[in-house]
This record gives sequence, C-alpha cells and structure tokens, in this order.
Amino acid sequence: MLPNIHHVAIIMDGNGRWANLRSHARVWGHIRGASIVTDIVEEADDLGLKALTLFAFSTENWSRPKSEVSSLFKLLKKFLIKERTKILKNNIRFKVMGDISGLPQETKDLILNLENDSSSNSGLKLSFAFGYGGRAEIIHAFNHFQSLNPGKKLTEKELEKYLLVNDIGDVDLLIRTGGEQRISNFLLWQLAYSELFFTDTKWPEFTRKEFREIIQSVAKRERRFGFISQSNDLAESSNKAQSNKHSFMDNLGQL
Ligand code: FPP
Repeated sequence: MLPNIHHVAIIMDGNGRWANLRSHARVWGHIRGASIVTDIVEEADDLGLKALTLFAFSTENWSRPKSEVSSLFKLLKKFLIKERTKILKNNIRFKVMGDISGLPQETKDLILNLENDSSSNSGLKLSFAFGYGGRAEIIHAFNHFQSLNPGKKLTEKELEKYLLVNDIGDVDLLIRTGGEQRISNFLLWQLAYSELFFTDTKWPEFTRKEFREIIQSVAKRERRFGFISQSNDLAESSNKAQSNKHSFMDNLGQL
C-alpha cells in the first residue's frame, strides 16, 4: 500500500513524563501506554505494513525501580493474554527479540505459545524488543556465526541471518515519541538506512491518526540510499544499494 515504507520501528517514549505532568506515578503512564500499543498494532495492520517493531523494554531499563520493572512485566503479560486471539485472527506473526530470561515463567510461556501459534501467519510481522539492546544483538549474531563457522570471515549478508528476528529486513522508518532525538541502542544494524521521525507527542497521547500521517508524510521523502537518483524509481535504488552493499563487503572480505 505504501511503496516506500514496509518496516516501521517505534521507540515508545514519554510515558513517565506524561504521568508525572498529571501528578500521577510513572506506572500510570505505562498503563495508558500499553493501551496505545493495541491501537498502533491495529493501525499498522490496517495500513498493510509488513513489519512493526516496538521497543518495550531495553537492557538499560533493568536499572529502573523494581516496582516499575515489575509493572512493565505485568503489562506485557496482560497484553499477551488480552491480544492473543486478535493477533491470531488477524494473521499477525508475533515475536519477542531480546533476553527474556528474567521474566516470570508464566509470561515466558505466554510469549513462547504465541510465538509458536502465530509462526506460520503471513500478515504483519509484529516484534516486541524486550530485554533488548542493539549492540548486544550484533555481538550475539557475530558470536553465533563464529560458533557455527569457525575461522570463516563474516559478511553483512551472513550476519543478517543471525539477527534475533532475521526476516523483517531493514527498518524503513523509525519513529520516536516523547520529544527526545536519540536512537538509544535500538536496532542499530537494521536502522542503517532508516528515515527518522521524532515527535513531541508523548506515547500515551500518540494516536492512530498521527501514526498514519507520519507514515504518509515520510512515504513522500526521496530515499536515495547513498545514490544520487533523480528518478522516482526508489525500489530499484533500494535494491541496488542492498546488493552493492553486500558485494562491496564480500569483496572487502576477500582482500
Ligand atoms: C518509555 O517511557 C517507555 C518504556 C520504557 C516502556 C514502553 C512500554 C509501554 C509502552 C507499555 C508496556 C506495554 C507493553 C505491551 C509491553 P519512559 O518511562 O522512559 O518515559 P519518560 O521518558 O517520560 O520517563
């Protein structure tokens, strides 16, 4: 439906500030934020996006107060229980990327069940980054490759096979809510050619309408992937960039 934008990633920031501004505890913002996740997943599905990746809990978030961390776990559990039927009915493929070993067993089981039961779905690829860090993902991919291919040189194409979710491709558009303009160790590899959009709207106030309007406006940008293309044949440009990127690195690897 949107030729330029297939994979959108979102840093859902601003929950705590939104709650504090209203003299509420931070967790209040997370509760409201969780309900917005449902709306945005529905909108992504309606827009016909191929992939939506949401930053729900970073490796750094472990250092937040215990009560806040456990509230985020509870909200994830609630989401998994509440949205399971809809996710399966809407042909959505669900995955979590990150280290979930610290989650309660019951929540881990809910994740694994939904991942398994949705694994053959062919619609929107919905991924939650939970216990996630971009640098850790790249190191993990490198080490995994090395353990299976001792002594072999790593190429970009090979590394991509070992990313935590390896069939969603590069991010076309990263949105960050909450007014900050940072990447915060999110999808470092996949963001290489991404368009970036920062909105002051705090996540609990983000709407389907704003989401759709951002995508529509970014879809009009010319994405050149390092080329100086004047034509509108962006898909060709993108394919060329991808294949040149791989062959450049493959050649470099042989030097
Ligand atoms: C950033 O807000 C947000 C997070 C750390 C977590 C995102 C979580 C949700 C949207 C709710 C959980 C929902 C599910 C389904 C897992 P912040 O607290 O850093 O905000 P601040 O910058 O205003 O402090």
